[in-house]
Amino acid sequence: MRPTRVLFVCLGNICRSPLAEGAARKRARERGEEDRFVFDSAATASYHEGERFDPRVGEVLKKHDAYFEHRARRIRPDDFRTFDWILAMDEENLRDLERLAPADARARIALVTEPWGGGRITDPYYADDWACEQTYLELADLIEHWWPRWQED
Ligand code: 4NP
Repeated sequence: MRPTRVLFVCLGNICRSPLAEGAARKRARERGEEDRFVFDSAATASYHEGERFDPRVGEVLKKHDAYFEHRARRIRPDDFRTFDWILAMDEENLRDLERLAPADARARIALVTEPWGGGRITDPYYADDWACEQTYLELADLIEHWWPRWQED
């Protein structure tokens, strides 16, 4: 069976979307479903291309046994053709994704907070250290809600 492919997207790909990717990868491992899914993350902007996580993000991922090797990258046109889902962290990301999508995009694009009925998740980049932990927990909860929908694919 072809794996379900999910791409998490935020502005810089050094805080929110890697936290989501780490939480999703960990959940797949725990469920023994690593072969069923491909998780990746990307930025709408190129400010941090090639960089590792924000150091606070790396600490939180390690604490939750959700660490993985990461280099920030910008979203590419082909991502819209090869991923099943592209999940944005806030409305600005969503607008940027709609602007960047090629005409033959096939990915479903949505807010990651859709299972909560929308809203934005905390961006730890601008916040205190505790915010990374808070954001990880928010995203881990959202991933639980998304899982049955991803499994339907
Ligand atoms: P992220 O956080 O989009 O969650 O990775 C940010 C990272 C960098 C910037 C803003 C937010 N920045 O302005 O450089």
